[in-house]
Amino acid sequence: RRYRKTIIAGNWKMNKTLSETRAFAEELKPILPKGKWCDVVLCVPYVNIPAAIRLFKDCRVAIGAENCHYEATGAYTGEVSAEMLKELGVKYVIIGHSERRQYYNETDLTVNKKVHAALEVGLRPIVCVGESLEQRELGVTMELIAYQVKCALSGVSADKLRHVVIAYEPLWAIGTGKTATAEQAGEVCQAIRAVIRKLYGARVARSVTIQYGGSMNPKNAAELLAQPDVDGGLIGGASLKPEQFVEIINAAN
Ligand code: G3P
Repeated sequence: RRYRKTIIAGNWKMNKTLSETRAFAEELKPILPKGKWCDVVLCVPYVNIPAAIRLFKDCRVAIGAENCHYEATGAYTGEVSAEMLKELGVKYVIIGHSERRQYYNETDLTVNKKVHAALEVGLRPIVCVGESLEQRELGVTMELIAYQVKCALSGVSADKLRHVVIAYEPLWAIGTGKTATAEQAGEVCQAIRAVIRKLYGARVARSVTIQYGGSMNPKNAAELLAQPDVDGGLIGGASLKPEQFVEIINAAN
């Protein structure tokens, strides 16, 4: 674990207005643990990013976006480029979340393009991969995850890979209250590292942060994070509540 940083990241999805973002910051900051044992990130809706950056400027919380476009600029009404995010002070961007793959036609190809777009401007992509319940029951989880990881990283140099975070989020565990067991999470995260090892070698593979996401909460966080290849969490519901988010940060200790 000393080769890589644990990262606890919240994904707010389409939650919290500007005033709710302010209220969250006011509640979180006084109870935020000071140690540096893990990096803490909050990925918030685009419109709240400038405020979130101001609100968390003087503490350990880095701000991330939940998506970006893969082109640098141009006629893409309603879209936001990686460079626009970078200039605001954004550090991370979630790429290929299953909700985007499901509702907004994101494919392994667009995920790959977005990973390149993010790295190009110096944003750290948090690349989401994961299987559906049907795929798990068919017994194709490992092949599918390996395929998603290979597609996402295609053309990414070993040097750039240090900035990439992978998040394993089994679809059946997202927002369902149904968590993968620590063993299931650990097994897939280990397999992801093996894929990276094959592509980039052992030294690079051990430096990559691999998170688990899917109904992670204060009760199950410690056990999930104790798995040797689970280097953090991508947290939806529980990241909306300051006390719960803090408990998960403490569990990463
Ligand atoms: O990206 C995090 C997410 O998909 C997990 O959501 O609400 O199950 O923690 P949740």
